[in-house]
Amino acid sequence: MKTMGKVILTGDRPTGKLHLGHYVGSLKRRVELQNSGEFEKIFIMIADAQALTDNADNPEKVRQNIIEVALDYLSAGLDPEKVTIFIQSQVPELCELAFYYMNLVTVQRLQRNPTVKQEIVLRGFSDNDEEENQNKKGIPVGFFTYPISQASDITAFRATTVPVGVDQAPMIEQTREIVHKFNAVYGETLVTPEMMLPENAACCRLPGTDGKAKMSKSLGNCIYLSDTSKEIKKKVNSMYTDPEHLQITDPGHVEGNVVFTYLDAFSTPEHFARFLPEYENLDAMKEHYRRGGLGDGTCKKFLFNIMEDILQPIRERRAHYEQNIPQVYEILRNGSEVARAEAAKTLADVRKAMRIDYFDDAELIAEHTAKFSK
Ligand code: TRP
Repeated sequence: MKTMGKVILTGDRPTGKLHLGHYVGSLKRRVELQNSGEFEKIFIMIADAQALTDNADNPEKVRQNIIEVALDYLSAGLDPEKVTIFIQSQVPELCELAFYYMNLVTVQRLQRNPTVKQEIVLRGFSDNDEEENQNKKGIPVGFFTYPISQASDITAFRATTVPVGVDQAPMIEQTREIVHKFNAVYGETLVTPEMMLPENAACCRLPGTDGKAKMSKSLGNCIYLSDTSKEIKKKVNSMYTDPEHLQITDPGHVEGNVVFTYLDAFSTPEHFARFLPEYENLDAMKEHYRRGGLGDGTCKKFLFNIMEDILQPIRERRAHYEQNIPQVYEILRNGSEVARAEAAKTLADVRKAMRIDYFDDAELIAEHTAKFSK
């Protein structure tokens, strides 16, 4: 049943191909939400303009990754018949909204945004004048204000629901503040969004294959949705396990053992029935590993079979779309047109509420006619 009025907006920065961490953390869920029929509209945005806020000198990277992300979306099962996939920069209405919202947010409030704070350090931006003079890169204004731009993304589509990871919580919080402020100042106009966090906490933080906390391109510890079967095998076989588990008969640790973290995230009882029937479930398998007598090779082979089970359909859809790139661009173009029409409606409401819709305001001319007539 369609709950009238529930709208999703979410998206990703196109700075790289999407990996398994993205799949468990967000893509898989989006496909489920798409198929749940609970939402009137779903918008999935490729946030190229936001990616440029800290990649100003590398537009080519963003340009190349838009198609990668689009292919990842489509191959993961997002269906352009059911969701609107679009490119942020192709909806200029978003910029105008952001420009007006900027008047409702203080510099101090942006400085307190925990994600911005953290990213300033991460990107090596300097936040004081002296260092800036000594050749350290200062903070680009566009980067600093991207939470405001994100509020435009969300409100432009009247999103009620924003499925994101916890790292995005400060952005949603700031969006809600902007909505409240706007509505208080100009009258009830914007919709207050709710954040939707991933269901399974173990899933949303998939470590890299080397056991490092997070998959990251620069660490080279990612499994990509676009990886071939051969690449997956190599990556699974080189996974970090338990350094103390040297002989098969040695007792082993499952905590911090990447193979088991992945099994936690992906394995189902059906996988056991199909690929490793000697165990009823993951608990039984873990128990044997802890006790000793279960080798890493067996565990990795099982994980590889599961990975293939999940990735094979994704790979097939990708192969199809890779042979139809003009069609993918057409999907993005159509999506961007639909998104633009939607954002234009909100922008019209915003202009009206702010009383800057001069030419649509018949009273204005009458009022000024009276004011100036002698
Ligand atoms: N900031 C998000 C990220 O880095 C991407 C994004 C941009 C987004 N605008 C959004 C997410 C609006 C949700 C809603 O992943």
